Amino acid sequence: MTLETVLARIDADLPAATERLLDLLRIPSISTDPAFADHCQTAADWLVADLGSLGIAAEKRETPGHPMVVGHVDGPEGAPHVLFYGHYDVQPVDPLELWDRDPFDPAIEETEAGAVIRGRGSSDDKGQLMTFVEACRAWKAVHGALPCRITFFFEGEEESGSPSLVPFMQENAAELKSDLALICDTGLFQSKTPAIITQLRGLLGEEITITGPNKDLHSGMYGGVAMNPIRVLSRIIASLHDETGRITVPGFYDGVPDLDEDLAAQWQALAFDHATFLGDVGLSEPAGEQDRTPLEMIWSRPTCEVNGIQGGYTGAGFKTVLPSVASAKISFRLVGTQDPLAIRESFREMVRAMVPGDCEVSFAEHGAGPASQMSVSHPAFEAARRALGAEWGEAAAFAGCGGSIPIAGHFKEILGTDAMLVGFGKDDDQIHSPNEKYDMESFHKGIRSWARILDAMT
Ligand code: BES
Ligand code: ZN
Repeated sequence: MTLETVLARIDADLPAATERLLDLLRIPSISTDPAFADHCQTAADWLVADLGSLGIAAEKRETPGHPMVVGHVDGPEGAPHVLFYGHYDVQPVDPLELWDRDPFDPAIEETEAGAVIRGRGSSDDKGQLMTFVEACRAWKAVHGALPCRITFFFEGEEESGSPSLVPFMQENAAELKSDLALICDTGLFQSKTPAIITQLRGLLGEEITITGPNKDLHSGMYGGVAMNPIRVLSRIIASLHDETGRITVPGFYDGVPDLDEDLAAQWQALAFDHATFLGDVGLSEPAGEQDRTPLEMIWSRPTCEVNGIQGGYTGAGFKTVLPSVASAKISFRLVGTQDPLAIRESFREMVRAMVPGDCEVSFAEHGAGPASQMSVSHPAFEAARRALGAEWGEAAAFAGCGGSIPIAGHFKEILGTDAMLVGFGKDDDQIHSPNEKYDMESFHKGIRSWARILDAMT
């Protein structure tokens, strides 16, 4: 039986596959909020059962955080052993009022650009995760068995920095070792060209809390004489970039490589349309380091962004308060060999030096992972490039990715396994934002793509 039979099976089963995805999307598995911990368990159970329905022996494996799901299936002698990774956890939904529907009551919507699956996690990453599972389901239905030995490895903490991942991988290294890890958690290039991701940025998450007076005060009674922690925090935040957009944390650029000439030429050839990229979100001016191209800013330059600020009165109306506490959540995207732990220390030292005597600062950490680089010379990359080209009718781009997926680097470090990242998200999927969606085209062609990749690799 041929690949065409599997593809036809995928086409015929698309309505049922969509129903299964909608079912998974109804589970509010928000990893960062402890109130949703039970739902993370439910999502893991759902996946164990779904893999079970495919004849794959899978288990929920507890960690100090949310559980992992691990499943194994044997393949023919001589075929490679691949591990597939995806995450079942999702981002919080707020601001909820900006959603046009309940984020966990997903639905298929017809839009001018085609049908979309709307709901939290549809693109990041439940829809993407299911593209691989559905490809396996169709393969199994046609052939009675899978083309190679496959380990399924699903995580429930990716959106909160994967705190349990490294110990779990270390403790289960022998079980998780494979010839190649496949990761489906990235996007197409400019929403239409298939892409294989060759480098990902790392991430350092820091939260700083400044405490001044021991209680909130009347800003008329105390303002001017009492130090306001929001003033301190604002000064710190304002000092993190200079006027050219460079980050001022001492030593921050240690390990940031110059862009390799070949890579620069390759990226130039991709003809990235930054006017459309920014225009789609209502902007027009690249805001990073002024001597860099927009694609470099996203893929190969480090950043420092404030992701949230709290302090004082933010409710309706107005309140003349001088707050006791102010805090900010700050993330750094890292590239090359930038060392997250060294940067954390340097950042904290810089912040401490800016806190006046009457105030205190405390720090909380939210993950620290270096950037990762894929081994594009691995033969699977060429096989996948051919397979993706055949499905999408356009050659696959070797692209960078501005986002971070902590596990990508760990496969190499801990298991010595190369990873290949292929995903089908589009720039306008609104991942992490209200009204997240996944195009039916991404889901359908994504499933077909994995069938073709498995076929090309075995
Ligand atoms: N799927 C994303 C990574 C991604 C982002 C791919 C943008 C393509 C484009 C992933 O789920 C994610 O959001 N990762 C977090 C990691 C963090 C919380 C440790 C990120 O990049 O912020
Ligand atoms: Zn995400």
